[in-house]
Amino acid sequence: MADQSPVALVTGASHGIGPYIARSLAGAGYRLILTGRSASELDALADELNALAVPADLTRPEDLAALVEAAERELGGVDVLVNNAGGDPQREFEAMTWRENASILELNLIVPMRLTHLLLPGMLRRGRGHVVNISSIAGRVSFPYTEAYAAAKDGLIGFTRVLRNDFRGRGVSASVVVLGAIRDAGQGQRTADELGLKLPVMGTSPAGAVARAVLAAIKRDRAEIVVMPGPGRLIKALMDLFPGLGPAMNQAVGANATMRSVIERRKQPAKVA
Ligand SMILES: NC(=O)c1ccc[n+]([C@@H]2O[C@H](COP(=O)([O-])OP(=O)(O)OC[C@H]3O[C@@H](n4cnc5c(N)ncnc54)[C@H](OP(=O)(O)O)[C@@H]3O)[C@@H](O)[C@H]2O)c1
Repeated sequence: MADQSPVALVTGASHGIGPYIARSLAGAGYRLILTGRSASELDALADELNALAVPADLTRPEDLAALVEAAERELGGVDVLVNNAGGDPQREFEAMTWRENASILELNLIVPMRLTHLLLPGMLRRGRGHVVNISSIAGRVSFPYTEAYAAAKDGLIGFTRVLRNDFRGRGVSASVVVLGAIRDAGQGQRTADELGLKLPVMGTSPAGAVARAVLAAIKRDRAEIVVMPGPGRLIKALMDLFPGLGPAMNQAVGANATMRSVIERRKQPAKVA
C-alpha cells in the first residue's frame, strides 16, 4: 500500500533555519518536499531525509507552478506548507531602488501568499491542510534598516490570521511563527560571524527552537508562536502597547550601531578572489 503519511513542503530548505525545520518534520513522520535555489544543498538534505528536492526560484511564477505540479505528481499534494524562505539584503531603504525594495516584499510576503493560493484548492478538496508562515519581530521592535522586510513580515501576520479565520472550518488551518534573533544558523548568525561578533545566548534562540515551534504550531493548531527567550508573546504585546520602546531598546543595546556597520559593509563592492 502507498505511504499515507502526510506531506510537508518546506521552502528555504537549502540552508539556514530551513534544514532544522525539515529534520524536525521528517522526525515527526512527514514525507517532505524541499525547495530553495541551491540544488546541491537541497539534494544533500533530501538524501539524508529520503525527501523530494525541487530546486526553484520562488520569485519566478513558472518555478512556483512547476513546484506545485511536482508535489501533486510525485506525492499526491501537500498537507502542510511551511513558508520559511525569506531574508533581507540589509541595506538602507532610500539607498535601494524601488525595484529592490519591492523584491523584498515579493520574497517575504507575495511568495508565501502566492504559494498558499496555489496549494489551498488541493487542501480544501482533501479537507485537510495547515499553512505555517515564518515571520519576524523586526517590525514590532523597529529593527534598524528593515523597512520593506518588516512591512512584509507584519503583512504575513495579518495574512495568517485571516486565512486561519476563513478556512479552519473547512479543515485548513494557519499559524504564524514570529522569530526574534536566532543563533546557530540563518542570516543573523551569518551576519554576526561576518562581523566577528558572538551572538549572546541570552537574547537569542537556537535554530532548533524554531523547528520545535513549527511542529507545535501544527500539532496543537496554535494561531501564533513567538520564538524569543522569555515570554515572547508578552514582549511582542508590550511593543505594540508602547511603540516607543523598540527604538529606545535598539539604541540602548547597540543594535543601531551594529546594523549601521552592517549597512556600511554592504555598500562596499564584493571582493573578487
Ligand atoms: N535568522 C534569523 O535570526 C531570523 C529572524 C527572524 C526571522 N527570520 C526568518 O526566518 C526564515 C529563514 O531565515 P534564515 O535566517 O534561515 O535565512 P537564510 O539562512 O538566508 O536562508 C534563506 C532560505 O531561503 C531561500 N531563498 C532565498 N531566496 C529565495 C528565492 N528567491 N527562491 C527560493 N528560495 C529562496 C534560501 O535558499 P537559496 O539561497 O538556496 O535559494 C534559503 O534556503 C526567513 O523567513 C527569515 O525572514 C530569521
